[in-house]
Amino acid sequence: MKVEELNAMAVEAMGHAYVPYSGFQVGAALLCADGSVYCGCNIENAAFSPTNCAERTAFFKAVYDGHREFTAIAVCGGKNGVLTGIAAPCGVCRQVMREFCADDFLIYLVGPDGYYETRTLAQLLPDGFSGKDLE
Ligand code: THU
Repeated sequence: MKVEELNAMAVEAMGHAYVPYSGFQVGAALLCADGSVYCGCNIENAAFSPTNCAERTAFFKAVYDGHREFTAIAVCGGKNGVLTGIAAPCGVCRQVMREFCADDFLIYLVGPDGYYETRTLAQLLPDGFSGKDLE
């Protein structure tokens, strides 16, 4: 799959966001090793902390369906769904990525007008804690 296609799926996913408190819509499109794609949006909650980020929605949907290996994720976000720049995943989402993904997992940060930047998980979460630390 072309990166532009994955990015477009993340932009489309933004429109599914449930964001009555922040108005900040986030979309994610997660590419599995077998080529399938799972999309996610952020889902807010009146108690705030139960809010689920778009990236984790995508991961949890995919893991539920039996996927354990992932290649890349495209992420975008903006107030009222309008992209003005890139939005990087929060720390909790980076930790969820670490659970399933290797250092070379790709994260596409999608901005307006087809602009995007690429990061690896190693760049976004250096020295991360993982299952290896529990062995
Ligand atoms: N949000 C995400 O969906 N992903 C992130 O990585 C950062 C933050 C959401 C959570 C909340 O609904 C809104 O953005 C504002 O923080």
